[in-house]
Amino acid sequence: MTRHFLTVSDLSRDELFGVLDRAAELKELRGTPAHPQPLAGKSIAIVFEKASTRTRLSFEVGIHELGAQPVTLISKDTQLGRGEPIEDTARMLSRYVHGAVYRTFGHERLQTLAKCASIPVVNGLSDKFHPVQLLADLMTIRQSFGPSLDGARVAWVGDGNNMAHSWIVSAAVAGFDLVLACPPEYQPDEQVVADAKAKGANVEVVERPEEALEGATVVTTDVWASMGQEAEHFEREQAFAGFIVDDASMKRASDEAIFLHCLPAHRGEEVSASVIDGPQSRVWDEAENRLHTQKALLEWLVT
Ligand code: CP
Ligand code: NVA
Repeated sequence: MTRHFLTVSDLSRDELFGVLDRAAELKELRGTPAHPQPLAGKSIAIVFEKASTRTRLSFEVGIHELGAQPVTLISKDTQLGRGEPIEDTARMLSRYVHGAVYRTFGHERLQTLAKCASIPVVNGLSDKFHPVQLLADLMTIRQSFGPSLDGARVAWVGDGNNMAHSWIVSAAVAGFDLVLACPPEYQPDEQVVADAKAKGANVEVVERPEEALEGATVVTTDVWASMGQEAEHFEREQAFAGFIVDDASMKRASDEAIFLHCLPAHRGEEVSASVIDGPQSRVWDEAENRLHTQKALLEWLVT
């Protein structure tokens, strides 16, 4: 059966930790003659319906390093962008390439692509989830605190968006504690929270950042207006007043706490320059880890 990676719960706990372990190995092997090329002779399509810098770079470079050829399609230049059905795009991609990464709006578009494709499909971000980012984030936590994620206490401060949902799903799979502080109108999807809790996740949603930050070992946030929500920027800026992660926020967290952000960031909005550019920030390791984790994921999924 073809496996896909549309959300972190598409991996079991063992599979998730297997991918993270392999990512650490691939990081060490990078640039050495011992680096494997398990996808030699293959091609992977990367299809974008939204902008990207990191996802495009890390997948293109990673696919190349695994021995395969990346083929990037920007939707507006394709027939998909002119209304060709996703179902037909899936059937066509399956005849040419050995896997596809897809960044889109509605999560159901990814589900349709995966349903109609006979090749593995990877979610490169949807309005609901951004699971490849979480692989990198979890690798970064392990680099700071060791391989077990059990002791991690993650504070999410900001929008209940695709990244927040991905943290929630990951808490259920990986077993860390998670508290999300989100303004009342911008809470995460109740079903996503309920599903994670039903799987035993220790997840709590609160309305005040202070409640989430107390004792946190990981502090993380994201933009207040995601791609597609640009028109809501002003109204969101008002709603998120008080949700900036700044030095005072980091003081409430554990002394050893690290700061993560999927990037791109807006200094002075969701995070202060002093935090994102400060000693507790791990955002550049986090960005680098996109490369290692996605290589490990593709090696596992596509071969
Ligand atoms: N974090 C992330 O996915 O970045 P891009 O939007 O630049 O791909
Ligand atoms: N929540 C952001 C993440 C960008 C990587 C967005 O969807 O735009």
